[in-house]
Amino acid sequence: MSVIKKIDKENLPLHIAITMDGNGRWAKEKGKFRIFGHQSGVKAVKDTVEGAAEVGIKFLTLYAFSTENWNRPEKEVNALMSLLVSTINKETKTLMDNDIKLQSIGNIEKLPSKCREELEQAIEETKNNSRMTLILALSYSSRWEIMNAIKQIVKNEISENEITEELFSQYLTTKGVPNPELLIRTSGELRISNFLLWQIAYSELYFTDKHWPEFRREDLFESILDYQKRERRFGKTTEQIKQ
Ligand code: FPP
Repeated sequence: MSVIKKIDKENLPLHIAITMDGNGRWAKEKGKFRIFGHQSGVKAVKDTVEGAAEVGIKFLTLYAFSTENWNRPEKEVNALMSLLVSTINKETKTLMDNDIKLQSIGNIEKLPSKCREELEQAIEETKNNSRMTLILALSYSSRWEIMNAIKQIVKNEISENEITEELFSQYLTTKGVPNPELLIRTSGELRISNFLLWQIAYSELYFTDKHWPEFRREDLFESILDYQKRERRFGKTTEQIKQ
């Protein structure tokens, strides 16, 4: 039986987040430049996005560029930005054809203007699509997001007794998006790396040794199957959950 058929459609994660890691190492193993790894990673993005929509995932967040990634060599940063521009430009039609809405989280003011324009245009064009929301984390870091939320709360003179988890969530860039039930990281690294720290409090974590350019929809389906075997207790006991 194909992997997708084994998935229980009644128990799907509503939101999956992915840290796409290992592009550079994958390229190096092949004796190629790091950018070749990023370019090859686009195919994995495409296949994963299509697979997520196919299986019925409602929100998919991809960690495409972290705040810390600005510290990479200028040549690599520029190549990544050009790749983002060309991919968003080329794939807006695919998003439209598949009824996928594009959103972004992160400090996009730091992006080069061409990249930001392309992104904003694609977000505008796809805003009425409703099958799935694809969220690109760009120039994103969770500490930046949390600091930003705190600054806004202070600026708005919100009093101590008004501050609840719900209110705090409204000040994050993920406002209105459910917390991910499943977080995937590729390439064997067992770290969170400043990604959605508030939002993944109860997420199931899934790690695979595959480098991102090798990741395909079947790997996404495997991760969903693994998620469906887990017992999510949210701090309660097994008996309480089964009641
Ligand atoms: C991590 O691999 C990957 C990135 C920093 C960039 C991810 C970008 C893409 C897949 C390209 C385009 C994406 C979209 C959404 C259009 P790494 O460079 O950290 O790999 P390493 O750990 O092996 O060095």
